[in-house]
Amino acid sequence: MDRLKVVEVFEGLSFPGNLQTQETLHAAVNFQFQDTDVLLVTFPKSGTTWMQQILSLIFNKENPQSTQSLPTWHRVPWIEQMHLLKYLTDMKASKVRLLTTHFHARLLIHNLKNTKTRVVYVARNPKDVLVSYYHFHNLAKFMPEFDSFEDFFDQFLEGKVHYGSWFDHIKGWLSVQQELNFFLLTYEELSQEPCQTIQNLANFLGEHLEPKDLQNILHYCSFSFMSQNDLLNYTLVPPEIFDHSVGKFMRKGEIEDWKEHFSPEQNTRFNHVYQREMGDLTVKFPWS
Ligand code: A3P
Repeated sequence: MDRLKVVEVFEGLSFPGNLQTQETLHAAVNFQFQDTDVLLVTFPKSGTTWMQQILSLIFNKENPQSTQSLPTWHRVPWIEQMHLLKYLTDMKASKVRLLTTHFHARLLIHNLKNTKTRVVYVARNPKDVLVSYYHFHNLAKFMPEFDSFEDFFDQFLEGKVHYGSWFDHIKGWLSVQQELNFFLLTYEELSQEPCQTIQNLANFLGEHLEPKDLQNILHYCSFSFMSQNDLLNYTLVPPEIFDHSVGKFMRKGEIEDWKEHFSPEQNTRFNHVYQREMGDLTVKFPWS
């Protein structure tokens, strides 16, 4: 709790100090990946918790209820955060370690590129990421305070928020995908075509799913199920850390909520920056 307002600056990026220390950030850069690991990579608010639950379900398909015995952050921990070692110890019996990171590719590529670690990158429309992240800043007392949505909007576009620039994050990971065992999917595909997207993901992971497994996964990862389950919806986080009176972690779970928040001018500005940053990419996203 004493680190609630601490900001850790590391490799040019800022991180909330109640989750990371210089020591844990250094340790993450030197993390020894194993060929059997699965690493979930996201920019914050891109559907990390959702995918942590899906990965957990895919690898525990015989017993999907078991995914309710521990919070997602314990079952699929962040390699850069505190308590990783405890969670890894608890994972010792599992054949596959499910891990998460918000790190940019440049911090991990040297340790990842010579492994067969399966890297799953979840991308989300950055306009919706911005909106979700803004609300998260109101909820989470360890995130910086912003005067207004406009203020946050500017900082996000300039990449001055915690974990850096959304544009740098996605471009960095896409630029090294050929060197990795890499699978890209989007929050939007998961929303709109969940069966096919989860099946494609399972194929990439080498996991066979029977129709009943897929039905179970769809049920246990649905927004309605997750938002009502205390181990999945972050309501167990104490009020000193999450001010539950101002909002929910499982907020809306929708696509294109940005349309409720952006002014026409902000949308034009965002599109301009997006085109400048992403215009050269050949990959087509559902939102572009
Ligand atoms: P919103 O704030 O737009 O509702 P992360 O886990 O990366 O922090 O992302 C959180 C976002 O994912 C929140 O978005 C949250 O509601 C959404 N989310 C979490 N679980 C989900 C689910 N099962 N289905 C759809 N969206 C989900």
